[in-house]
Amino acid sequence: MQTRLLVPDDQGLAEASALLARGELVAMPTETVYGLAGDARDGRAVARIYEAKGRPSFNPLIVHLPDLGAAERIAVLDDAARDLADAFWPGALTLVLPLRPGSGIAPLVTAGLDTVAIRVPAHPVAQALLRRFGGPLAAPSANPSGRISATTAAHVADPVTGLGGRIAAVLDAGACPVGVESTIIGWQDGRPVLLRPGGLPAEAIAAALGGPVATPRLDPAAPNAPGQLTSHYAPRASLRLNATAARPGELLIGFGPVAGEMSLSEGADLAEAAARLFELLHQADAQGRPIAVAPVPETGLGAAINDRLRRAAAPR
Ligand code: TXA
Ligand code: MG
Repeated sequence: MQTRLLVPDDQGLAEASALLARGELVAMPTETVYGLAGDARDGRAVARIYEAKGRPSFNPLIVHLPDLGAAERIAVLDDAARDLADAFWPGALTLVLPLRPGSGIAPLVTAGLDTVAIRVPAHPVAQALLRRFGGPLAAPSANPSGRISATTAAHVADPVTGLGGRIAAVLDAGACPVGVESTIIGWQDGRPVLLRPGGLPAEAIAAALGGPVATPRLDPAAPNAPGQLTSHYAPRASLRLNATAARPGELLIGFGPVAGEMSLSEGADLAEAAARLFELLHQADAQGRPIAVAPVPETGLGAAINDRLRRAAAPR
């Protein structure tokens, strides 16, 4: 299969929408990372997503929708969920909610769970595609399973480290502004819990809820801790964390005062570091040398950055 790069103008969006209607897969830009989109009502299209990513099929997918009204037709929102949706949608927040009976979402999307992960992306191209297509789009990050997430169309289209040759098309809108995946909130015992740190800092969510967001109780029976596979977002080379200097042969990625061959952010700006994280990991990985990364503070977007770095460094 030849993967086509589409310009996200009227013609490109019409083409992408027609491909999706035929059950094909299209990678779409979102403000966080590129997503590999398929019709969430079409079990065969969803199966193709798992196949293209080489993803273990027990890992459920996020359903992307244009607005809160569309979300209410697929999931059940309580007051806290609606408060979060009002405060942060469209944006880098995913809510794991009870699935509404008769939603029409293919069971493969939720991996048979009675909950569904929903996100309303803010990226204008994702919004335009959702409105043009007129249906829910299941979209995991557009990278082979376990590998570095894609923040440019070139990452997605790469035949070796990406999905080139395995999907119909990529809508090319340049680099994703946030650069790390959405923050995922679920509910346990009626209380919101942080399932995955991400592009919306947990501090902002706590402020909207008027109290801290709890850490989830681990339930080995339910795949509710995203990226429960500890090794994830992994470059092919090894990765060493909290490095203040390169060891012989290593490529050091700097941050703030720790200078490297490249830097996440020379000015120690966490938003810039998040936006550059996966691009720099892709660049470093292409050199085939062991990678070392400077320490990054754990506050704000730093929580998501460190979460991704720890998984990238985990033993495989
Ligand atoms: O920013 C993002 O969230 C990107 C863009 C494309 O929207 N998407 C993304 O999708 O990161 P993915 O599939 O790579 O990560 C989705 C995570 C998975 O780790 C999965 O475990 C969790 O969401 N998830 C999905 N449905 C769930 C459910 N019903 N219960 C618990 N976790 C769920
Ligand atoms: Mg992913």
